[in-house]
Amino acid sequence: MEWIGSLFSRLSDGYPVSIDSLSIALGVDRNTLLMGVEKVNADHTFISCAENCLSLCRIADPIDDEKILAHSVDLKSDFVIDIVDETGSTNQDLMARIPTINTSKKRVLIAEKQNAGRGTKGRSWMSIPGGSITFSIAYTLSRETTSLNISPLSLVAGLAVIHALMDLGSRNITLKWPNDLMCQDSKIGGILVEANRKSDRVGIVIGIGLNVCLPQSLMDILDQPVADLQSSGMSLDRNLIIAKILLKLDEMVSSFLADGFSRFRGEYDAAHRFHDCLIHLRAPDNELISGKVAGVGNSGELILDVAGTKRSFLSGEVQMQRVESS
Ligand code: BTN
Repeated sequence: MEWIGSLFSRLSDGYPVSIDSLSIALGVDRNTLLMGVEKVNADHTFISCAENCLSLCRIADPIDDEKILAHSVDLKSDFVIDIVDETGSTNQDLMARIPTINTSKKRVLIAEKQNAGRGTKGRSWMSIPGGSITFSIAYTLSRETTSLNISPLSLVAGLAVIHALMDLGSRNITLKWPNDLMCQDSKIGGILVEANRKSDRVGIVIGIGLNVCLPQSLMDILDQPVADLQSSGMSLDRNLIIAKILLKLDEMVSSFLADGFSRFRGEYDAAHRFHDCLIHLRAPDNELISGKVAGVGNSGELILDVAGTKRSFLSGEVQMQRVESS
């Protein structure tokens, strides 16, 4: 069923597509296609079949700015929210808009569908309309703040999302350094922070992608273990989830901009799935370093105890081959 990802992209604008044309485009016969759809729909109806056509079902309630803003007066006073049905990448759009943003309010862009969602390390980010949350928030910082080391901001954003999800009843979501959102060993969401220092102000865009309700058959073909909020037993009210995240993010980003990252270090270690664990870190030069996670530093760097010596890493990929420390 490698073609399942392609089936979702062909249906992703919500319009019905004829089974015959899909079967030709995907290179599978009609029966195989319909059996695949049956499998996708095993636990939840993601794709409906009517009049010889397939179409994507709306899985969750539509995202609605009024419903998001209704959750708090602070949201109304601090944020301007735009919602689009479709775009390339909300991060890319807000990065392009930063030089023209002339409001003290934070700009939020939410997309139901991203055609070119960006992940970390140049990867792409997969989401499905109605089954995901994909949005970005732009901050424009004053010149005084530009001296601040903003690299730990992505860790702060990860913590804010974890807190928001915990407030909504989730108990098993952790972080994998620097800011992968995990449900046990599966990725449930990710954060991409981009900065633009070229303009007279510093523009920062925090992009957040969350899997809300994805078909198991789609999760199975991704290149890493993936989970969704539905399987973590959470409320699937996307408007509420976005509202909570915006509020937490605003509170924690303000505190970070005022006081730096040091006050978040303990909190981060407590939320880090691999704190105090033996891990392998794949460094950007491809070196594989094995050590015990000793915590994060003031710049958000990962501190590893490597054979009794503390070493710090600003980037790299924590690998899952973990042995619990005793
Ligand atoms: C990761 O690779 O873990 C980061 C994924 C970040 C995805 C989000 S979805 C909203 C925003 N727009 C993008 O293009 N990327 C981020």
